Amino acid sequence: MDSSKIREEFLRFFEKRGHKIVPSSSLLPSDPSVLFTTAGMQQFKPYFLGEKSPYGNKAASCQKCFRTSDIEEVGDERHLTFFEMLGNFSFGGYGKEEAIKLAKEFLDSINIKIDYVTVFAGDQDVPKDEESAEIWEGLGFSEKKGTLKFCGREDNFWGPTGEEGPCGPTTEIYSQGIEIWNLVFNQFYCHKNKSLTKLETFGVDTGMGFERLAKVSQNVPTIFETDLFSTILKEIPGTDEKARRIIADHIKAAVFLISEGIIPSNVERGYILRRILRRAIRYGNVLPPTSHNLIDLAGKVVEMYKDVYPELKSSEANILDVIQKEEEKFEKTLGEGLKQFGKGLDAFELYTTYGFPIELTLELAKEKGIKIDVEGFNKKFKEHQEISRAGAEKKFKGGLADAGEKTVKYHTANHLLLAALRQILGPEIYQKGSNITAERLRFDFNYPQKLNEEQIGKIENLVNQRIKDDIAIEMIEMSKDEALKIAKISFDPAKYGETVKVYKIGDFSIELCGGPHVQRTGELGHFKITKEESSGAGIRRLRAVLE
Ligand code: SER
Repeated sequence: MDSSKIREEFLRFFEKRGHKIVPSSSLLPSDPSVLFTTAGMQQFKPYFLGEKSPYGNKAASCQKCFRTSDIEEVGDERHLTFFEMLGNFSFGGYGKEEAIKLAKEFLDSINIKIDYVTVFAGDQDVPKDEESAEIWEGLGFSEKKGTLKFCGREDNFWGPTGEEGPCGPTTEIYSQGIEIWNLVFNQFYCHKNKSLTKLETFGVDTGMGFERLAKVSQNVPTIFETDLFSTILKEIPGTDEKARRIIADHIKAAVFLISEGIIPSNVERGYILRRILRRAIRYGNVLPPTSHNLIDLAGKVVEMYKDVYPELKSSEANILDVIQKEEEKFEKTLGEGLKQFGKGLDAFELYTTYGFPIELTLELAKEKGIKIDVEGFNKKFKEHQEISRAGAEKKFKGGLADAGEKTVKYHTANHLLLAALRQILGPEIYQKGSNITAERLRFDFNYPQKLNEEQIGKIENLVNQRIKDDIAIEMIEMSKDEALKIAKISFDPAKYGETVKVYKIGDFSIELCGGPHVQRTGELGHFKITKEESSGAGIRRLRAVLE
C-alpha cells in the first residue's frame, strides 16, 4: 500500500472509532527541556496529567518527529533523524484491552502480520504486566509459540520525554523482524529525581514508526526502498549506499527544520541544522560530482510532503534560500578543510577556520583511524566562548549604560513584544537581535514568512493589553541552571555568567536579562509597530515605537 494511503487509513480507522484527529504539532516543542519533538505524545502531555483535553479523551495523529540521538547512525538500514509517527492516544478513555485490540485490528485491516509481541517483565518498582499478556493470549499469542516475550525496563518501559512527565510499561509489536508499534500505558509520573508516582488517569500513548510500517506494508528490504525514500534516492545516483541514505535523510530533516524558522548557526537548534546540512554536503563529495543537487532534492521533499504539511509549500522559497546559502558557505571551505585535515590540522582550527562541526571531524577521523584530542578541543572551545562572552557582556552593558528613561521603557517593551510573538506566532520564536534607541526599538526574530496585517494587529493589541494591565515587573537573581529551567532564553546561554537576573512580567513573560526595566508596564504608553521587513533568510525585523 502506498504511504499516503497508509497514513490516511490509519487516521480514518481511529476517527471511525471515536478518536479526534489532531494535526501534527510543531517540531519545536513548548517544553523548554527538549530541543525537538521526538514523539507523538508530546503535544498531549498535559492531558495525561489531568488537564482537560480540548479533543475529548481519545485522539490520533501523524506527528513529524526529529531525533538527534541517531545522527551518526544514519546511513545504515534503519536509522533516521526525521520521521513520522502515527499514534492513537487516550486520556482515561480506554484501558489496555481496547488499546491492544485496536492495534491488532488495525494491522489486520491493512494485512500486516504480527511476528511476535513483547510485554513488560516487571522489576523492583513496577510489577509484571500480566494484564497485557493475558489480552495477547486471548488473541492467540503465547510464550510457548514464541509469539509473546517478556522484556525488562530497557525494552518495555517508556518515558518521560524531557526531565519529567508521564511514563509507563509498554507492549511492543514486531513484524518482519522489526519493532513497528509501541503501546505505552501511562500509569506513572516520573519526577526529576526519577521516582515514580501513580497517575490518576490511565493513559494510552501509542507510536508507530511510519517509515517502518511502510517498509513492512510494501514488503521491501529496508525503509530506503519505500516510496517515502525512493523518490528522493532516485535523484541521487551513485554506488555509495551510505552516502546516498545520509543525504536523503538529512535533506528531508533540513527542509522540515527550516520550515519551522530554524536557520543554521553555532548554537542549539541552529547548530543541529548546520551539522546535518554540512554532513550532507560532505557526503555529497564522495558521490560523482554531478550526481545531485541539494536544492533540487529539497524541492522534491517539499513536493512529496506538501499536502500533509502545507507549511513546506508556504516557506519553500525560504527553505531553498537557506540551504543554498549554507551550501555556498561550506563549499568554500570544505575542500581546503579536508586537505588540512589530511595534514593533521587540529579539530579546533577546523572548526573556527573551516567551519567543520566537531562531530564531522570525529567522523572523518574514525574513517581514517585517526585519534582526535577531544579534550583539547573542548578546552579551546571553552576559552573561545569565554572570550566572546566577555565581549558580549561588555557590549550589553555598554548598550544600556546610558539607560535613559526612554530606552528603559523600550527595553521592557522588548520583553512584552517577544512574549506576544511567542503567543501569537508560536513558542519557537527566538530573539535574534535587538537594538534600542531613545526613539524606537528594532527587533529581529526567526519566522519563515512576512507577517500579515492581522498578525501585526494581534501582536500590537496583546502588548497594549499587557501595558493596560499595569503589571508589576519583578526581578529575581538565581543561578543560570535554575533560570534556564523556568525562563525561555533568547540568546546563547553561554553568553551569560553563572548568576543571572530573571525579569518576570506577571505570567506573560519570563526572561534572562541584565535590565534595567520600568517598575510597571503601565508606564510604557501606547505600543505601535511601524515597520515589518525581512532581515535575512528566515528572519523578520520589526520596528516599534511607544507613543
Ligand atoms: N511515546 C512512545 C514512543 O515514542 C509511543 O508513542 O515510542
